[in-house]
Amino acid sequence: MITGTRTGIGKALAEHLLDVGHVVVGCSRRPATIEHPRYRHHEADLADVGQLKAVFRSVRQEYGKLDALVNNAGTSSMNHFMTTPDEVSRRIFDINFFAVLNCCREAVKLLRKSTEKSSAILNVSTVAVPWAIEGQLSYSASKSAVEQLVRVMSKELSVFGIRVNGIGLPPVHTVLTRTVPRPKIDTLIARQAIPRQCTTADIIGPVEFLIGGQSEFITGETLFLGGVH
Ligand SMILES: NC(=O)c1ccc[n+]([C@@H]2O[C@H](COP(=O)([O-])OP(=O)(O)OC[C@H]3O[C@@H](n4cnc5c(N)ncnc54)[C@H](OP(=O)(O)O)[C@@H]3O)[C@@H](O)[C@H]2O)c1
Repeated sequence: MITGTRTGIGKALAEHLLDVGHVVVGCSRRPATIEHPRYRHHEADLADVGQLKAVFRSVRQEYGKLDALVNNAGTSSMNHFMTTPDEVSRRIFDINFFAVLNCCREAVKLLRKSTEKSSAILNVSTVAVPWAIEGQLSYSASKSAVEQLVRVMSKELSVFGIRVNGIGLPPVHTVLTRTVPRPKIDTLIARQAIPRQCTTADIIGPVEFLIGGQSEFITGETLFLGGVH
């Protein structure tokens, strides 16, 4: 299951996993942009707990288990904190942190039923956390909370054979970043040890590794791409 599959990174991941033979459940607020016999889309606002629970109820009824959950759906707002309205910060936390927490809670019941060697949760973070980028206070704080969730949850879920990791991304060209001025993106890319823009193709391999059996001894880690430290 991948959240936020209508556009961007989530869509590219879903399409790849379908290509290599997996059954993929996706969701977003708006209708699906993927048509595939092994793809099932749910329209839901994950910030609404009732809608979120309904998605997992349907997954349980249809499949009875999950092998992996990728918490990809997210939002951002770039502004000086002095001019960021309270409701904007709360909405960011609702989607980027509370929806992730609630998806994990619902998914655990299905991940425990997985017949794979170990089932996995993967959360998406950002360079805005280690680089403490100005203008992204609420966004980076919500993703910092997700990175802490990774560390704590990895311990709390190991007893169930569920691993919890994160993937930290530098700028990728998607709907989320299309309004960020190009010079700002270029400045961030220049800080990477590998100074070129990350693409969805760069993300697919690490995601497959972190949700698959080859990483069965890795949990509680957030892996950053592009060399950001
Ligand atoms: N792009 C980057 O440079 C970058 C860098 C670091 C980290 N990230 C992270 O990567 C993840 C994916 O971002 P992206 O760049 O691919 O952005 P995107 O193209 O805007 O995709 C976000 C997806 O999440 C869905 N979504 C948003 N709010 C939702 C909600 N409340 N309920 C359900 N679905 C929701 C959107 O569909 P609907 O609009 O239909 O709901 C869309 O499918 C995010 O967590 C983001 O923080 C991105």
